[in-house]
Amino acid sequence: MTEWLKTDWRTKPRVQMPDYTDAAALKAVEGKLSSYPPLVFAGEARRLKSLLAQAGRGEAFLLQGGDCAESFAEFAADNIRDTFKVMLQMAMVLTYGAKVPVVKVGRMAGQMAKPRSAPTEVMNGQELPSYRGDIINGFDFTPEARNPDPERMLQAYLQAAATLNLLRAFSTGGYADVHKVHAWTLGFTGAPEAEKYRDMANRISDALDFIEAAGIRAEAEHTLQTVEFFTSHEALLLEYEEALCRVDSTTGKWLAGSGHMIWIGDRTRQPDGAHVEFCKGVQNPIGLKCGPSMTSGHLKSLLNSLNPKNEEGRITLIARFGAGSVGEHLPRLVKAVREEGANVVWSCDAMHGNTIKSSTGYKTRPFESVLREVREFFAVHNAEGTIPGGVHFEMTGKDVTECTGGVRAVTDEDLSDRYHTACDPRLNASQSLELAFLVAEELSARRTQIRNAEAV
Ligand code: PEP
Ligand code: CO
Repeated sequence: MTEWLKTDWRTKPRVQMPDYTDAAALKAVEGKLSSYPPLVFAGEARRLKSLLAQAGRGEAFLLQGGDCAESFAEFAADNIRDTFKVMLQMAMVLTYGAKVPVVKVGRMAGQMAKPRSAPTEVMNGQELPSYRGDIINGFDFTPEARNPDPERMLQAYLQAAATLNLLRAFSTGGYADVHKVHAWTLGFTGAPEAEKYRDMANRISDALDFIEAAGIRAEAEHTLQTVEFFTSHEALLLEYEEALCRVDSTTGKWLAGSGHMIWIGDRTRQPDGAHVEFCKGVQNPIGLKCGPSMTSGHLKSLLNSLNPKNEEGRITLIARFGAGSVGEHLPRLVKAVREEGANVVWSCDAMHGNTIKSSTGYKTRPFESVLREVREFFAVHNAEGTIPGGVHFEMTGKDVTECTGGVRAVTDEDLSDRYHTACDPRLNASQSLELAFLVAEELSARRTQIRNAEAV
């Protein structure tokens, strides 16, 4: 077998990528990016892989979340801080339910390229290329904005670098102290349905007080004050990925330097396509989205080509079938994985199969459908005796109105109030935390079930 090259994807069929018209400008940008420092270090990607290996064995639980698409316009410290903070709160609630460490991975610091269902969009009789994320073109419906511009990659790189810098500062600089992110009941006060959340929140606070009183806090100080936080994005724009791909000097292996974990979308996972070819050669943990059209044969062939050595923590299968459809699709993929003896982390993306158009015309996702998909995911794994290793949400720390439902209910009519997403609708801070409580209940019920089965 000839050695893998970071340019090999160029010989394969590509989908969902822009056709840049100015080849010289593209080349200049690629040259610059190739000379810039990578954003992450290989040792971090290996560390994440070892944590994901634990999630695959049920010794940890993955929480992956963040924007559908990070935008240049929403790039601000407050947005980064708020999403980080809600993820920490969710992680604390999930840890309480699962009684295992939660691996925190943001859809952050690079999530800026989007696959689209149609290449063009028509508005008032005018047809223009679809918006593909700020790293590729602009959101405004004008020919200038929609033209793919390679210079945007440089802006995206700077934004990713600054976002990661702030995340690193928050993770170790004192902000992540559990006592600072401690608002477990965020916005739930008053809502009678939230009684059970307040109850669990009180128990978490009690546990922390106990640690403190028993003097365990001094020893646990470091763990409670710092946090490991990783970044991830869809590796869609391969010119950008290739330019940041570097050889790791300690192992001599290739690393996608754009983020800790990268994933392959449901629309770009052709076994002989460009995206799979690129991901094959880098050592990062790889996510693979699995939608209803994923066959057992495709999955087996993808597992073999992406993880020929069956390394633990390398592959996270991110299932996204839609509420009501998990039972129809997940069991066949679980069977395929079992037949291959493949090591994977099973994660549930409860967002992408649940997008609907509201009565008021907005693209939305009902909270109830998101929750139902998570429950169906757990039910299938409980029935199959396999491990639900994580969850994947599109969410923000801001009080947006993009998904309907939740304890502080957002209605179809409310959607227009604060609908800010550049792409898919996100859970707001309160909905995200509520979901964490409900997933924690699932995890805790599962523990009880396993314990009871062991006792028999
Ligand atoms: C996404 O995660 O934003 C996305 C486009 O997902 P999928 O590839 O599963 O459709
Ligand atoms: Co999305």
